[in-house]
Amino acid sequence: MIKTNHDYQNLQGSYLFSTIAKKVAAYGESHPDRAGQVIRLGIGDVTQPIAPSIIRAMHEAVDEMADAATFKGYAPDLGYEFLRSAIADEYKSRGCSIAADEVFVSDGAKCDSGNIQEIFSRDAKIAVCDPVYPVYVDSNVMAGRSGKWDPARQCYENFIYMPCTEENGFAPELPEQEPDVIYLCFPNNPTGATASKSQLQEWVDYANKIHAVILYDAAYEAYISEPDVPHSIYECDGARTCAIEIRSFSKNAGFTGVRLGFTVIPKELKDADGITLHSLWARRHGTKYNGAPYIIQKAGLAVYSPEGQKEIREQVAYYMNNAKIIYDGLKKAGYSVSGGVNAPYIWLKTPDGMTSWDFFDDLLERLNIVGTPGSGFGPHGEGYFRLTAFGSYEKTKEAVDRIIAGRI
Ligand code: MLT
Repeated sequence: MIKTNHDYQNLQGSYLFSTIAKKVAAYGESHPDRAGQVIRLGIGDVTQPIAPSIIRAMHEAVDEMADAATFKGYAPDLGYEFLRSAIADEYKSRGCSIAADEVFVSDGAKCDSGNIQEIFSRDAKIAVCDPVYPVYVDSNVMAGRSGKWDPARQCYENFIYMPCTEENGFAPELPEQEPDVIYLCFPNNPTGATASKSQLQEWVDYANKIHAVILYDAAYEAYISEPDVPHSIYECDGARTCAIEIRSFSKNAGFTGVRLGFTVIPKELKDADGITLHSLWARRHGTKYNGAPYIIQKAGLAVYSPEGQKEIREQVAYYMNNAKIIYDGLKKAGYSVSGGVNAPYIWLKTPDGMTSWDFFDDLLERLNIVGTPGSGFGPHGEGYFRLTAFGSYEKTKEAVDRIIAGRI
């Protein structure tokens, strides 16, 4: 008899970005004359080619694979030493003490942020921001931690939701109920908000006090432009005993199609019985993962070279120029807007009290622009909408012109 995991039945519909992709495809099929005009500012997928020095490193690594003397088989499951050391050095340059063997190289931050929950007990109490990157919620639903879906509140009964609203600057407050696992993402996806060093320190102190773990998603740290915004949770005192950090090469170096990321777990981080989370994740990685490809890890190493750093900074500046165009254009068109200063996401209030999905349909049908409905990120995202700065300059400008004009 086939018996499936019935926790999956609790998931609400398909994954947010799959739902959007299906809707856009259906629109294209029913409006073939307009399909070519659609501008996609929905999923945060990069559009600029990978920087030349990184491509060169990839080519060299491909050539090594063609020579018996330099050929590589399975990668070490936790990552090649050369990349883990380069990552640890980058942390050191920010004053964070992270050792190379505390870095776990993977095929991306999405997989890590979805998989990391496997090392926690099934009854672990989960706290998430609201709105939130849907992977944190959905992966914990799949793991049976959600309880029932409450359609009236648009919430799962067992999760602790931490509202991020205009009033609190889209930064969550400490929850009333004590969690075991706290997901935080700064700069934030979807709101583009940041946490200051003192706000983040408050979270670290809180997590240490109640002996909870913070899963800190820093996928967008390269987009920070303001000086007092921390790039890593390890800039805070005490983070080594309470925080796991997840990072990505997708958004800073254009690896969305290449796939590379990493998770940092300090060795001091232990559960209530003194078991290190580092050992659990190492065991999990060794069992279920055969390591990111050598060619890709070499490309990742090139990201840390002076040339790679210069090139990726230029790409980040390119996208942040788009962010400014979107931000300024929406303001000009009379929208209430936030984000876009330390993050490639712009968060706007839908006009005239429209629901997020109604606004999605309106923008797609009237202006042929795709964005992401705020309610797809959680109940407090209702009435909001996300646009990404990862499009090309030309398409971004065109989209903003359409929004300002109110027509194509
Ligand atoms: C997003 O649009 O939220 C992200 O691109 C999704 C992801 O990184 O998986």
